[in-house]
Amino acid sequence: MNEKLIEEILNLKERRKAVILAHNYQIPEVQDIADFVGDSLGLSQQAAMTDAEVIVFCGVHFMAETAAILSPGKIVLLPDIKAGCPMADMITAEALRAKKKEHPKATVVTYVNSTAEVKAESDYCCTSANALKVVESIEANEILFAPDKYLGHYISRKTDKKIIFWEGFCPTHIKILPENIKEMTGKHPQAEVVVHPECIPPVIDLADQVASTTGICSYAKETKARELIIGTEVGILHRLKKENPDKVFYPASDLAICPNMKKINLEKVLESLKEMKPQVSVPPEIATKAREAIDKMLALV
Ligand code: 13P
Ligand code: SF4
Repeated sequence: MNEKLIEEILNLKERRKAVILAHNYQIPEVQDIADFVGDSLGLSQQAAMTDAEVIVFCGVHFMAETAAILSPGKIVLLPDIKAGCPMADMITAEALRAKKKEHPKATVVTYVNSTAEVKAESDYCCTSANALKVVESIEANEILFAPDKYLGHYISRKTDKKIIFWEGFCPTHIKILPENIKEMTGKHPQAEVVVHPECIPPVIDLADQVASTTGICSYAKETKARELIIGTEVGILHRLKKENPDKVFYPASDLAICPNMKKINLEKVLESLKEMKPQVSVPPEIATKAREAIDKMLALV
């Protein structure tokens, strides 16, 4: 059944001159047909450099928006337009403008998990892979970091700069609790613990390594450990197992599932390529301002 679907997708992809980009949390079948699977940073870089005419973005809305900003003139398809990010919805451009007035000296660094309008109000964009690098590159001493307070907290431990937090968080990552990590390390004492920086501070405290999703994949390849406890969305386990068949991976919590990342499937990918919708676009005046913040980040990589 899947073989026929996959064949149709690949044929149509060729005809449309499309590229399929997928986030590390996508369902296995979608990851397996993608031209590139990665974290937010890697996906942005791919979107910026592709010469395809159409980008089929298998991820969530803010990621497709970022691709549209970086690839003006290209068609960006998000196979399920309802695939959003609740953290991105925890901040609006209006609320950010009000906060900037309260902190006029602060430089605004916004996590890529945000809308294009919010990025347009920001000085710099960052991802989980480069947040510290971006913050450290800034001359000002006061940083308004939005919207993820836990990523902000993680950064604040590693920099001397004053970080002003936004009250946002990822509803999926906060489900991973320190008790889960302790239970898993009790069962698997040889295992290393690798977590995403969206996790809560007591979970970060128990980790051997904190990294973006692609950072977690790189660490898993490099480490001598044969067993790893993974503190992030469970979809990443597919890639980890595929790339490291000789290692064993345990999810820190089976509850860490992002329902939005699971909305896209092969049927929807095919449908979107057939119909050339749903398309994601960003109004030019917002895209131009948002791009400045994204480009400043990409220049640092
Ligand atoms: P990464 O950039 O690390 O892939 O994270 C994106 C995300 O949404 C994490 O929840
Ligand atoms: Fe947003 Fe969290 Fe889902 Fe990532 S895992 S897309 S931050 S809700």
